Amino acid sequence: MKPALAPLETLYETKRGKALPLPPRLARLYGPLRMPLARARPHVISNFVTALDGVVSLNERGHASGGDISGFSAQDRMVMGLLRAIADVVIVGAGTLGADRHHVWTAERIFPSLADEYRQLRTNLGKRGPPLMVVVSGSGRLDLSLPVFKSGEMPALIVTTAAGAKRLRKPGAPDSVEIRAVRGGDAIRARSILEQVRRVSSGKLILVEGGPRLLGDFFADHLLDEQFLTLAPQIAGRNVGDRRLSLVMGRTFAPRSPLWGSLIDVRRGKHLLFLRYSFPCP
Ligand SMILES: NC(=O)c1ccc[n+]([C@@H]2O[C@H](COP(=O)([O-])OP(=O)(O)OC[C@H]3O[C@@H](n4cnc5c(N)ncnc54)[C@H](OP(=O)(O)O)[C@@H]3O)[C@@H](O)[C@H]2O)c1
Repeated sequence: MKPALAPLETLYETKRGKALPLPPRLARLYGPLRMPLARARPHVISNFVTALDGVVSLNERGHASGGDISGFSAQDRMVMGLLRAIADVVIVGAGTLGADRHHVWTAERIFPSLADEYRQLRTNLGKRGPPLMVVVSGSGRLDLSLPVFKSGEMPALIVTTAAGAKRLRKPGAPDSVEIRAVRGGDAIRARSILEQVRRVSSGKLILVEGGPRLLGDFFADHLLDEQFLTLAPQIAGRNVGDRRLSLVMGRTFAPRSPLWGSLIDVRRGKHLLFLRYSFPCP
């Protein structure tokens, strides 16, 4: 028999925003979860797990997933599911999809034994159906036969460039996948990604699940309101020039444009620390 999932211990919380109507089992496992009150623009959150030395991906075959960083923690997956369950939109970059090709980014998929509770939570929140899945790819080199596009478990949107859209709009592409092209070079501004998302979804809570390159672009445009960060007690280590990735890649902020967040929540799991930071978004 599997050991029961232990509840998180809340060490620090700020009581701003509204407490969400979590079903009893989720409320017991996570504690209260608050989100800011609805406003004109969507609230954008991100969720990552990091090693103590800042590595979020070992980026090697068979060991590129967040599970390799968290030690395949059930508590971390429970929190991932919780944030997906409250999200209207889940966004990932092509690299994150490539590292977990057979995944579908629903709450139920990441933590199946809480599927009923996650569904109940969406119902309590008045959400109909699963979140919109958004995949960002400049090149448009995506395999449209992957479950994330083909399973029908989530409506899907691909945000890409004109060249990417041309590559993707081939006979046989599933009709259920919407493809939207943004003019310009291969790198799409996060603000343009959000513009495209808002044309398809009026949802007010957007979850960016990475990876590091996409996250960097959201921070660069000051569009990330909150970072949920699970700290796993392992030192991954790295060598100069290796392919290991840290939380943000492809962008530098300090010292010229430092990005400081505020710690707003701390919970303790069995081995992990669940941190939550807010960032000022003008
Ligand atoms: N520890 C964690 O919590 C966590 C979370 C998420 C991901 N990860 C890991 O991170 C690794 C992937 O890292 P990554 O930095 O490659 O991830 P990524 O940001 O998901 O993927 C980068 C790719 O996505 C596309 N992309 C992202 N932002 C774009 C933009 N603004 N404009 C145009 N295209 C954009 C590009 O695709 P094209 O090349 O097709 O143009 C780019 O090459 C995986 O190993 C994954 O498991 C870890």
